[in-house]
Parts: sequence; structure tokens; C-alpha cells
Amino acid sequence: MKKQTLLLGRVLRFSGDPMRQPWQDVVRIDSAGGVLLCDGRISAVGDGAALSAAHPQAEVTDYDAALICPGFIDAHVHYPQTAIIASWGKRLIDWLNTYTFPEEMRLADPAYAEEIAGRYLDLTLDHGTTSVASYCTIHPHSVDAIFSAAAARGQRIVAGKTCMDRNAPEGLRDSAQSAYDDSKALIDRWHGTGRASYAITPRFSPTSSAEQLAALGALWAERPDCLMQTHLSEQSDEIAWVRELYPQARDYLDTYEAHGLLGARALYGHAIHLEEREIDRITETGAALVHCPTSNTFIGSGLFDMAGLGARGVPVGLATDTGGGSSFSMLRTMAAAYEIGQLRGTPLHAAELMWLATAGSARSLHLQDRIGTLAAGMEADLCILDLASTPAIAQRAARAEDIWETLFATIMMGDDRAVADVWIAGERRGG
Ligand code: GUN
Ligand code: ZN
Repeated sequence: MKKQTLLLGRVLRFSGDPMRQPWQDVVRIDSAGGVLLCDGRISAVGDGAALSAAHPQAEVTDYDAALICPGFIDAHVHYPQTAIIASWGKRLIDWLNTYTFPEEMRLADPAYAEEIAGRYLDLTLDHGTTSVASYCTIHPHSVDAIFSAAAARGQRIVAGKTCMDRNAPEGLRDSAQSAYDDSKALIDRWHGTGRASYAITPRFSPTSSAEQLAALGALWAERPDCLMQTHLSEQSDEIAWVRELYPQARDYLDTYEAHGLLGARALYGHAIHLEEREIDRITETGAALVHCPTSNTFIGSGLFDMAGLGARGVPVGLATDTGGGSSFSMLRTMAAAYEIGQLRGTPLHAAELMWLATAGSARSLHLQDRIGTLAAGMEADLCILDLASTPAIAQRAARAEDIWETLFATIMMGDDRAVADVWIAGERRGG
């Protein structure tokens, strides 16, 4: 008989999308729940005592008052920017030129790319993040580095070679043809191997010629099972620059749409300053957006309309956008999403924030049938949250009138100390 593991504790459960339905109808926390793991997957979720009785041979870990959640899913990151997170004082284009491109250049050294890939995944695992969708650099070996590092840790991951053939320094530019060829070879090498999947990754319209966007659009048409990730309407100066570079485009989204880079498996990071036509096209096509709240405040980009876009049914993932974002923590990211909601007059509930950081991100990555929810058949990636991890949080939790108030204190004030444990594909990694 296969080894079974039973985790006991409070268990976070989803049965629908709380951005579209009242959260009370689709999100709940079982106070004495259990999650049974077998062969890398979740085989049952339910009442802890009943699962214990039905599976007496299972090895039990009792987390008591801690919260068993799906592992966090960070839907937009740049792992190569790990070492330059929290760089001071620049807005988007200057930030790219001053801090980001010089650092990405350093990943020309394969040994450095490997070091950063490993460092990044260890840091994020310490924060309870079990899957990410990452940009790499233009160097194909930077893609090998992150896929290899994720495979060594058993993690599900999405990644792709960042493509740029203009407006980037010498040494950090490819071409339309090499972007197509290298991306295609990387898809063949990695897409669907183990827990890896590939995202075709033009960085953003300012750093791609129309020829490069068209080449990557053609590649996506050949490999429609891949995701396509890029940036959209993050900052007003960037949008004005796109208008200059693509004078014939109706709007920023049209620079992608006209080159075959709009579709249901598209993933647009930021998407703050959208025009009506762009929102209509995103809604019609089923493309996903990614909310990057700590980045949007840190780089000074603006306030994403989470409530409005979520209510229209646009799939939205949540992300740190490391290293434009100022934290590796999805707890901190949820806190920033809450604060931006407050600034817009639409605060998100703890249940909605937790859904965005797990099932919502999974849906944006088209991985909702594998990760992001605790349910039988799903892959066993879990994060265990200590809801009283610091004296400040514990004293607030002691005053809480219900579990949501307790959890909200950890969302707003928690960090890696709140991550009591992490499980990847049914294996305990530790918090
Ligand atoms: N737009 C194009 N590249 C980037 C990047 O690396 N980070 C952010 N935040 N925005 C971008
Ligand atoms: Zn980004």
C-alpha cells in the first residue's frame, strides 16, 4: 500500500470564485479539518477526525490551530531581478535602464544564472510560494537554470525566455529570428516535462520590434498550448512611448493583438491604465491579467482595478513582480492588494485575498485543475500558516471575533515567520 500522510488543522476550502460570487458562498475554513496526501496528490479533504478514523495507517502531522492552505502561486515574477529588489528612486523606464538591465546582463554567466535561480526559489519557498510564473533573461541558459532548479525541488513552474530586440543595451538584445528559434527550442526541451510549462515571453512592446512580436505570435500559433506572458499599460510614460513606437496601433493592447499575441492563454502583467476597448477585448478573449500591487506602488505605477475587472469575469492572478515588487512574500502582496483596494474604495476580504494568491493565480495560469485549491485529485502543494507568528500578530489575533479576523492580521502583518511548513508534491519541505 502506498504511503499516506494526513495533515490536521484548520483547512481553507474554495468551491467557486469569490470575485464573482459572495465570498461567504464559496470560501470557508474548516476548524478541525484534514487533508490526506498520497503519491504527490491530495486524495481527500474533510473532517479531521473522520479522515483519521478512515485512514489509521496514515502518518499524521497535526498543525492544530494553524491554517492549511494551498501553496501560494506568484503569477508574475522576474527571478533574474532577485539581487536588485528594493532599488531606490526610479520610475519604470529609468528603473529598467539603471538597475534591471545591468543585473540581467550578469546572467550571461550560466553559473550566476544558476546561483540566482536557486536563491530565488529557496527565498520564495521560505515565504510559502510553491509555484511561480517567471520571466528569465534573453539568455536561453537562464531558462534552463530556473526550470532545472524547480525540477530539483519538485515544483510546478511556468517560465520563458525574455525576448527583446530593441531599446535594450548591447548584450541584452536578441533578434526576431533568434527569439523565435531559441524560444521554440526551449519549448521542445521543457514544455510539459515533469511539472514545467513554457510561456512565450516578449518583455513588452517597447523592447520588441513589430517583426519580433510577429515572430512570437507565429510561434504561439504553432504552440497554442503554451502561455504567452508580457507587460501591458503599467505606467503612463511607457504608454506614451508605445504610442510613439507603434503609431498605427489603436491602443497598447493592439500592439500585441495585431501580432497574434492576444488570446485566452495570454497573461498581461500590471494592466493598470486600460482603455474601454482594451477591457472589452480582454473580456471577449478570456485573456488573464496579473495584479502586482507592491510593484505598482513601489515603481509608482498606479492603482489596478481589481474589483471592477474581477466582477467582469476577467481572470486575475496576484503577483509580487520581483524585483519591481518590493517583497518575495505573497502575504505582503495580499496586504498591498488590500491597501490599493482601500485607496479605490473597494477593500478586498481576507477570503478574496487568499483566493487570489492561490486559486485565482492558478486560474490565470490555466493550472486550476492541478494547483491552487485543496481538493481530491489536486497536486499536493501546501502552505501551513501560523496565525500567531509574532507577538504583534498574536495579540491582535487574541482579540479576533472570528477566523477571518484572525487570518486578516496575518495577511496584513505576516512574513516568512508565519510560514510554519511547506509541502511540495506531497513531500515536506519545511517552512
Ligand atoms: N516592463 C518591462 N519589463 C519590466 C520589468 O522587468 N518589470 C516591470 N515591473 N515592468 C516591466
Ligand atoms: Zn514584470
